[in-house]
Amino acid sequence: MTHFLDIRDFSKDELLAILAEARRRKAARAGRTKGAVDDDAPLAGYSLAMIFEKPSTRTRTSFDAGMRQLGGETLVFNSGDMQIGRGESIPDTARVLSRMVDSIMIRTHGHERILELAEYASVPVINGLTDLSHPCQIMADLQTLEEAKGRIEGLTIAWIGDCANVTRSWIEAAVILGCPFRIGAPKGYQPEDGIIAWARENGGDLFITEDPAEAVRGADCVMTDSWISMHHKPEEAQRRIDDLMPYQVNAALMARAKPDAIFMHCLPAHRGEEATGEVLDGPQSVIFDEAENRVHAQKAILVHALKGLI
Ligand code: CP
Ligand code: NVA
Repeated sequence: MTHFLDIRDFSKDELLAILAEARRRKAARAGRTKGAVDDDAPLAGYSLAMIFEKPSTRTRTSFDAGMRQLGGETLVFNSGDMQIGRGESIPDTARVLSRMVDSIMIRTHGHERILELAEYASVPVINGLTDLSHPCQIMADLQTLEEAKGRIEGLTIAWIGDCANVTRSWIEAAVILGCPFRIGAPKGYQPEDGIIAWARENGGDLFITEDPAEAVRGADCVMTDSWISMHHKPEEAQRRIDDLMPYQVNAALMARAKPDAIFMHCLPAHRGEEATGEVLDGPQSVIFDEAENRVHAQKAILVHALKGLI
């Protein structure tokens, strides 16, 4: 049994093996209807419970579609519909669900909640986003990057704007897979010291500047995320927008990256804030490949997590 909690828990070989499985399954489905079950139906008879303590469009739909394509079943809960939403403990929830389902995905608040769930669950637990990290998103991003560029190692990634959960998981992937990672963000929006120290201790090529133009120099891929994440307070929104407006990814900034650079965004996007519509909907954007690849990448994660059982 393998949990999927953070990118840094996996070796380069393991991450590449999961990506290879994602690539293989995507190719094998070419021309099939989205609802069709994969020929080998590896998770037939297995179930995934999903708990959402925050909203979701992509994570919810992609895990549901992916599990069905693998032949499995899903149970989807908003936490407000569960006793966990009125105070039942995480250890008890973990032990109860482990008696009933074969795997659990959770989108939650503090990272300690998923760590506690994983500690008490006797089935694989998958991180569908916490305030700290979003590893499933990064697996889909890596698949998208490989599709666009034919490789991952050695590609230069530029991250512009707010540095939150997606950034953190991307830094982990960049360090493990050997991608120079250039951050352009103002003070107060840069990654916290712990992840910077981890990256440097593990030989990462991490460059941090307050100048977005300098950050995108030589980039093969420019990325950003919404400026107001689900864990940010609504009353901070206007200040964050004002502080981050100089970091908007627009055509002028994209022109400073490599001419064949791609643009990625985990979505949901806010046109006119972190990126312009011109960039989000422009020829360098691969945002909808990225969204689709959530299905393929997470199918590979599910197979990897449940491989001891199947
Ligand atoms: N990118 C992503 O995780 O989207 P959702 O919040 O819609 O799941
Ligand atoms: N940083 C964003 C990612 C959404 C998928 C958030 O946490 O809201």
